[in-house]
Amino acid sequence: MASDGDQTVYKPLGLLAELTHRCPLGCPYCSNPPALDRRDDELDAVTWARVFREAAALGVLQVHLSGGEPGARRDLVEIVAAARTAGLYSNLITSGVGLTTATLGKLADAGLDHVQISIQDSIAASADKIAGYDGAFARKNALGREVVRLGLPLTINVVVHRANIERIPDMVDRALALGATRVEIAHAQYYGWALKNRAALMPRRDQVERAAVQVEDLRRLHQGRIVIDAVVPDYYARFPKPCVGGWGRRSLNVTPSGRVLPCHAAESITGLEFWNVRDRALADIWMNSPACRAFRGTDWMPEPCASCSRRDIDFGGCRCQAFALTGNAAATDPVCQFSPAHHLVADLAADQADVPYDYRRQITRAALAKADTA
Ligand code: SF4
Ligand code: FES
Repeated sequence: MASDGDQTVYKPLGLLAELTHRCPLGCPYCSNPPALDRRDDELDAVTWARVFREAAALGVLQVHLSGGEPGARRDLVEIVAAARTAGLYSNLITSGVGLTTATLGKLADAGLDHVQISIQDSIAASADKIAGYDGAFARKNALGREVVRLGLPLTINVVVHRANIERIPDMVDRALALGATRVEIAHAQYYGWALKNRAALMPRRDQVERAAVQVEDLRRLHQGRIVIDAVVPDYYARFPKPCVGGWGRRSLNVTPSGRVLPCHAAESITGLEFWNVRDRALADIWMNSPACRAFRGTDWMPEPCASCSRRDIDFGGCRCQAFALTGNAAATDPVCQFSPAHHLVADLAADQADVPYDYRRQITRAALAKADTA
């Protein structure tokens, strides 16, 4: 921890490394930005290795290897080995589509510590429709079984929305059947593609309330067998979540082309200046970049946050959500019942429509098969 004028700078603990924005799936709630980084702009493995060394020196303990689909990188084994060499605990966040079992074995040999696979639903047809990819459900299940067979810990991630919220118990059963040690049930967060698809994804209040009771029941039922983590849906809450544990406080994100973001959606806020690992050391960026400093600490807060007893608990909520809903990234998150813009959240939650998803652009199966030749 260092003090920098009016801002206390903590060590970041987690690094989200977005290795690529390429992905075979097209999930309508994808957290990637609507404008995706191009393949020829992606950092190479040597640069990622340097970023991992710098991250470890800065205090980072865990690297989450994410995308897009990280399996679309031909040099993924090299990147995982670099994380191990840097002394970082590595978590591969994969769609489960685009990685062969042979590559998974090589990743395990290279020192991969943990795998997280997302499932879209407990029913194959619905899961494939949400993913925008025929056969995704079967491939995810097959890869999940292989993760467990290799002795790697497996987390199943479930993004909950109107199309699957009624089947949370079935999805937990699926995670148990695969041998997962943890399941993360996260309601869709409305940034990026989810913001575009908000009306199609938004669950009803009665569904959300029933789901919350179910999660508690499932925790009791499966205690000791599987850990169930749950992220509550913002739009029906009274207080906002402490998004990313506070801006520029404990985690950072590096995009495929090397821009350093305080959170994965930070580029949705216009006017922020992001520095790039191609030009500067990670420690310099973390300490001094305009984007990391923009909402660090509490001095930037307006009322009602500035004098609120919860300001060191939720850090005023989510800057990206404040910007998306009010046009002002420094505003109190409208999810908060004390926000002068709180009425917006109720209005938007009521705006539901059974319209087709606007799927994000995908990469073709042929390109994916070519990528996974490691
Ligand atoms: Fe959190 Fe600000 Fe609301 Fe207080 S007023 S609960 S600090 S968002
Ligand atoms: Fe950016 Fe919450 S997603 S601060």
